[in-house]
Amino acid sequence: MNINLWGVPITKENCNYTFSDFDKDTQEYINDYSSVETDTVNVVVNKGAFLEDDRLKKIKEIIQTHAYYYRDNIMACTNELEIQSSWLTVNHKGSQHPPHIHNHTIFSVCYYPRVQSGNLVLIAPDGKNSFQHDYKFGFQYTHWNEWNSNDWTIPVVSGDVIVFPGYLTHFSTPNEHDSPRLMIGANYWLTGKMQFIDELDRISA
Ligand SMILES: [Fe+2]
Repeated sequence: MNINLWGVPITKENCNYTFSDFDKDTQEYINDYSSVETDTVNVVVNKGAFLEDDRLKKIKEIIQTHAYYYRDNIMACTNELEIQSSWLTVNHKGSQHPPHIHNHTIFSVCYYPRVQSGNLVLIAPDGKNSFQHDYKFGFQYTHWNEWNSNDWTIPVVSGDVIVFPGYLTHFSTPNEHDSPRLMIGANYWLTGKMQFIDELDRISA
């Protein structure tokens, strides 16, 4: 039996709802943003409220469902969830999303309406695997696993929803396909009473 204590919690599930399942209005709305070709990733922010359009109602519900799953089953807490921001990223052929983190975010939900090519790569906290906290030797590993890897590649297909903590550095590999790769993301914060040890360090947000 292996006990994976204090790991980085990541969930991935396919929701079986992809761009081709969207109604025409929603497809056109998203196509408007993905029609202009760019060499680098195109991040459509819309004031950080991309999901607040009525045409994206069902997509928002899917994202919210996964956020609540993560809160209830991974974090196992009752603090209320709040979407801080949401956005669309478009990767045309040859482009990728460079490494970054999501500041001031408890966790992020990434929903991929259409992906024909390209993976999500996550970097270990501080770039260190589980044996490198006080040093950074590399050993002669027989194979890579969750403990000895410094990064981890997650294959992505259309309909995938991935949730991970905001502190995790991540990037995407290039889209090699003619069809633009689409990702709709949301950053979450938690509200309510927060307490560490006792009433002296309690705050409400
Ligand atoms: Fe990101």
